[in-house]
Amino acid sequence: MVNRADIGVIGGSGFYSLLDDATEVEITTPYGPPSDVVTVGRIGGRSVAFVPRHGRDHRFPPHRIPYRANLWALRSLGVRQVLAPSAVGSLRAEIGPGALVVPDQLVDRTSGRVQTYYDAGGVVHVAFADPYCPSGRTAAVSTAGSSDWEVVDGGTLVVIEGPRFSTRAESRWFSGNGWSIVGMTGFPEAILARELALCYTTISLVTDHDAGVEAGEGVTHEEVLSFFATNVNRMRSLVGDVVAALPEERTCPCPNALDGLKLPFDLPG
Ligand code: ADE
Repeated sequence: MVNRADIGVIGGSGFYSLLDDATEVEITTPYGPPSDVVTVGRIGGRSVAFVPRHGRDHRFPPHRIPYRANLWALRSLGVRQVLAPSAVGSLRAEIGPGALVVPDQLVDRTSGRVQTYYDAGGVVHVAFADPYCPSGRTAAVSTAGSSDWEVVDGGTLVVIEGPRFSTRAESRWFSGNGWSIVGMTGFPEAILARELALCYTTISLVTDHDAGVEAGEGVTHEEVLSFFATNVNRMRSLVGDVVAALPEERTCPCPNALDGLKLPFDLPG
């Protein structure tokens, strides 16, 4: 069994059963251990490493997830393309629970999370104008569109610090700015992937209307969990299909994200 993988999935623990020939890999990184042991296996013809974002027992709240260790661990196993399924709230009345959003933009409203690998040994400014991999987005949109998903191609994900949900005023402010969905884990995951020159694609399952949306009453933890639980099988099979649809050759700009920059260390993997 070779502990290498091309594709990484960071998601909820419902995804273990996706992997054939699975083996567990315990990894340490310069940033401490990842959220849990990494499971490496196969989906279709592709080698995949899976990290449960919150840990198997869901012990890490969004603001305590070891984001740097998770991405570093994946890259050290050889991963170059990352899929990041997550649950989000909708900021638009017309995007309801059950929709799948593949955002193309991101707004960071987190505070106090470490959001870089490059905080010592020199100055490294990484471009982040387009935070998601265009090839990964295309694979996700076309895969979901060819099954029974209601797919929203594009839109802005605003990432809040959590673990609390937004107030009505915050939520109205977000939707008034034209943003589409709100979540708690999409940042700094996306920038850390970019800082390691990985392809990164968010696949967002809408579980609720956020508090400020006209049709919504205000969201509860229970609502999010129970909606996610009833959709986990659908999400799991979608992620498997998107893995199979990812291009084997990376023709997107992501591998060149660090070209011309003077890095203070060698990248792993
Ligand atoms: N995750 C799922 N629903 C959410 C919401 N309404 N706000 C933030 N994160 C969420």
